[in-house]
Amino acid sequence: MASVQSLTASVNQRLADALASALPEADGVDPLLRRSDRADFQANGILALAKKAKANPRELATQVVARITAGDVIKDVEVSGPGFLNITLTDKAITENLAARYADPQRLGVPYADAPGTTVIDYAQPNVAKEMHVGHLRSAVIGDSVVQLLEFTGENVVRRHHIGDWGTQFGMLIQYLDEHPHELDHKAGTEDTAVSGEEAMSNLDRLYKAARRLFDSDEEFKTRARRRVVDLQAGDPHTLAMWQKFVDESKIYFFSVFEKLDMEVRDPDIVGESGYNDMLAETCRLLEESGVAVRSEGALCVFFDDIKGPDGNPVPLIVQKSDGGYGYAATDLSAIRDRVFNLKANSLIYVVDARQSLHFKMVFETARKAGWLNGDVKAYQLAFGTVLGKDGKPFKTREGETVRLVDLLDEAIDRASAVVREKALDLSEEEIAERGAQVGIGAVKYADLSTSANRDYKFDLDQMVSLNGDTSVYLQYAYARIQSILRKADGTRPQAHPELDLHEAERALGLHVDAFAETVAEAATEYAPHKLAAYLYQLASLYTSFYDKCPVLKAETGEQIENRLFLCDITARTLHQGMALLGIRTPERL
Ligand code: ARG
Repeated sequence: MASVQSLTASVNQRLADALASALPEADGVDPLLRRSDRADFQANGILALAKKAKANPRELATQVVARITAGDVIKDVEVSGPGFLNITLTDKAITENLAARYADPQRLGVPYADAPGTTVIDYAQPNVAKEMHVGHLRSAVIGDSVVQLLEFTGENVVRRHHIGDWGTQFGMLIQYLDEHPHELDHKAGTEDTAVSGEEAMSNLDRLYKAARRLFDSDEEFKTRARRRVVDLQAGDPHTLAMWQKFVDESKIYFFSVFEKLDMEVRDPDIVGESGYNDMLAETCRLLEESGVAVRSEGALCVFFDDIKGPDGNPVPLIVQKSDGGYGYAATDLSAIRDRVFNLKANSLIYVVDARQSLHFKMVFETARKAGWLNGDVKAYQLAFGTVLGKDGKPFKTREGETVRLVDLLDEAIDRASAVVREKALDLSEEEIAERGAQVGIGAVKYADLSTSANRDYKFDLDQMVSLNGDTSVYLQYAYARIQSILRKADGTRPQAHPELDLHEAERALGLHVDAFAETVAEAATEYAPHKLAAYLYQLASLYTSFYDKCPVLKAETGEQIENRLFLCDITARTLHQGMALLGIRTPERL
């Protein structure tokens, strides 16, 4: 299905042509078209242009107007203020544009990006043998939405879940398991009973605590545990097999959380820190040989002119410790080589907590110095802020512990189910449970995605599941209400009638539906799902005011009923598609 040119783009084209014919040097200049309250659009570009050409802006604007022929698309153009143009479109152009979008149910006429490339996105990266917390939630939710957005524009997206599955802490765990071999056995035991994520995590947690206790209290165990780290790094088969048990057990847990989050995470895309082991030595050798890294007190370090500690001394990135061990930085540098040279990425995105910004700044700078990142490949940390409690402090339990992500999601689902139960009298218990999960998880995702990622936000479940205001529940209800109208229309099918005059509220809704394509393009190029969220909220609000002002099933004529049903349906499809790009479901009934 061919993509549909947006009304903005077509008006823009006409304006640019008129500008260029009025003033030859204006060729290629952006007329700066914006939606406006006074007319459908306002163009502000003439002011700056006139200033540059030393022309009178109002006169130039008048000349431009004279070169625009009103017709099928543009109904009226007038000069306003110091040299703005107010542009009004014909009702017919609006309806026809929407009809063309309606004819393309898959993409609603949204074009693919001009030059898609390959993006590797690093997101949803929890740590083995540890609980997931709200920070992991943010990375997963934001990352998933950016994946959906990019894929929708035709980008080739490679997902990488860089889980924390390597490091000295595994020495302690493996040694403990070796000495207590049944600790990871499953109670459920029988072959056909799947182990629940909950059970897997509680096994790991118990084991972790016991190992820690022993490690802190028993010097001999500590020594044995340290030897294990060496065995692990040397690739001793028995030690590796034990390590694998921890990874597998953790994956059972991770997958259960991602499933609860209604999010697809595929096993082959999980390439954790351990996945780059074979590259670490070479990464260090390349950095040392090229002089990018130097030995300093035995450690291999990269220094930066602009990165200094509070004492004024340079803070280096340590690529290899003096004992020969490799850390987080060596792994990330190796991952860059893999992503650039093997996966052939043009863009690297890291959806990681803003508190790791210094790390990424140093890693990217090092990779640039080494020539692994250059003008053809850009690396970007999509840094996100902290999740705060209602008190505005980092989110903790009353006991001061980090909140378990699973508990939080369960609570959101409970609250949402209560809301669904209260509103819907004709739903079965099973339906309430299903909708409750879709509404609850949607609420959590939307609260995260509707503020720009770099900002902190308050985790406030009352607000998140509220039916009023900027929440996913409000959007989901708008969608479900439209479906209910479409069902009630039984027999009458939505159909566009471009010959009909439109009400102000219909025009505003229609123009906004048309702006979907541009919003998606912007949100995708800027990795900014919150722009799409803001668009959808406004779409639902415009729909509400259309619905208040324009009777649908009781409209005056049959054609008008069909046309309004058509407006309802295209709005619903846009809501559905937009929410899907945020990873949020739109139930047909609520
Ligand atoms: N596992 C890390 C954490 O929990 C996040 C990993 C981020 N990705 C990366 N390539 N360093 O904080």
